[in-house]
Amino acid sequence: MARHLITSAIPYINGIKHLGNLVGSQLPADLFARYLRGRGHEVMFICATDEHGTPAELAAAKAGKPVADYCAEMHDVQARIARGFRLSFDHFGRSSSAQNRVLTQHFAKVLADQGLIREVVEKQMYSIADGRFLPDRYIEGTCPNCGYDSARGDQCDNCTKQLDPVDLINPRSVISGSTELEMRDTKHLFLRQSAMKEKLAAWIDSKADWPVLTTSIAKKWLNDGDGLQDRGITRDLAWGVPAQFEGAPWEGMEGKVFYVWFDAPIEYIAATQEWADKTGGDWARWWRTDKGADEVTYTQFMGKDNVPFHTIGFPATILGVNQAEGEAWKLVDYIKSFNYLNYDGGQFSTSRGRGVFMDQALEILPSDYWRWWLLSHAPESSDAEFTWENFQSSVNKDLADVLGNFVSRITKFTRSKFGEALPEGGAWGEREEALLAELTARLADYERYMDEKEVRKAAAELRAIWVAGNEYLQSAAPWTVFKTDPAQAAAQARLALNLVRIYAILSAPFIPDATEIMLEAMQTEDRSWPTDLRAALTALPPGHAFTTPEVLFRKVSDEEREEWQTRFAGIRT
Ligand code: MF3
Ligand code: ZN
Repeated sequence: MARHLITSAIPYINGIKHLGNLVGSQLPADLFARYLRGRGHEVMFICATDEHGTPAELAAAKAGKPVADYCAEMHDVQARIARGFRLSFDHFGRSSSAQNRVLTQHFAKVLADQGLIREVVEKQMYSIADGRFLPDRYIEGTCPNCGYDSARGDQCDNCTKQLDPVDLINPRSVISGSTELEMRDTKHLFLRQSAMKEKLAAWIDSKADWPVLTTSIAKKWLNDGDGLQDRGITRDLAWGVPAQFEGAPWEGMEGKVFYVWFDAPIEYIAATQEWADKTGGDWARWWRTDKGADEVTYTQFMGKDNVPFHTIGFPATILGVNQAEGEAWKLVDYIKSFNYLNYDGGQFSTSRGRGVFMDQALEILPSDYWRWWLLSHAPESSDAEFTWENFQSSVNKDLADVLGNFVSRITKFTRSKFGEALPEGGAWGEREEALLAELTARLADYERYMDEKEVRKAAAELRAIWVAGNEYLQSAAPWTVFKTDPAQAAAQARLALNLVRIYAILSAPFIPDATEIMLEAMQTEDRSWPTDLRAALTALPPGHAFTTPEVLFRKVSDEEREEWQTRFAGIRT
């Protein structure tokens, strides 16, 4: 048994996320957490809302609410929807927590003690019309790198280059659209990432097993130097972790806060502290390498736009802090990153309401349907696309025709011919041994893909495991055998019903609700991973009671598909 720390990129507080956001971080992180728990490992799965920064301030203003109230409400909304998708966080924290404020300020102070913070008086965009400095995301303009005309002040969405607002060509205020911007003096703290370059490079070089998507982005920043410019870690904003605090090694930072990208990843740790404060648990054994966290495997999940902040920004903080005596914080071991999911011939668009958002998805179908489609089509090697045709066929074929049909056929058949318990008699023959051999090989592949976080391949293998059962039933045809050799039909039914329990366990990371229905039908609480398949296939003995479950998965009709396609084309405001 090993210990695994798993974090999902923490979603911004403003607004409900779409399915593309979900499949890029929270959902695959949940898949992995459930799998590892299923294998008997100890897991700490952490997520939170990312609450600071201008987006939260502006969304609150739009909603006519104080920003703290707005964040509290939206946190509850996101938590409820996360439960709806069965995201099994051990804790869903808030980056605005007291724990995160204390830890963020502590890290900043230690970094300063290490000589890694510079105070810089710089010129920043001040919007005369808006009466405020305009931080990063609230300035738009043309990207100096690729020419894209709606690049944000912190990053170009087109070429992913990290930017400073002053780099933009033809800048304008996102708040008012005003181009009446002027440069004014303001003091800020800069993290001396440049001083960390060699350490970071050596660390990234040591990660030979990381996905290419992760290392290619990381190395791009390292090698062209871009990601290693010193980065401003404070902003002229009211909402955030105050940059001036008791014991701060600087002065004159009143009215400024830490940059949201500085405090957000620290919330991974702070959220674990929130969990510990709530439960009486021990957070340090997950995060302090001097307190047991050296035994922990730490895996992060995120979309590709988050990779620079997790391969350079956050590690620079941790490596810098760890230079100080008495500081020993856990660095990530593996970063699983995802490409984008597009929607029906275009992009998901939060502003235009294009695509399916998490709340809407749950209004039309239960979470298992979405989990299965999203995970089996995860944008791993390239961007992927959601289409309703593909969704319909995936649900109808994989879930209804293969898994659902298998469960319903064998439970109904056994019930009608043998009654309410697993029948006795008969023995395995060649067909059963062949099935066992196939399942054994496929299970090994499934485990390997899951261990490697190869989400699509794992889904395909699981589906093949379901198909093997279906094909077995089809060729064994116990309904025909029953007429001439009831004992043999009984052995076949027993094997197939045991397979239902095994499917419940193996499928749990993908479709946890179906797992519960299958286990309930098999009248068992035994969720132990079928390490020994031969034993698992006979775990439920003759005489063990079972029931016929309700329909596991229903089909999506053509009418529904068309209706949903129209409904989600982009009207939501
Ligand atoms: N809120 C960011 C996003 O949605 C992710 C932050 S992840 C963390 O893209 F590193 F900051 F925690
Ligand atoms: Zn660009």
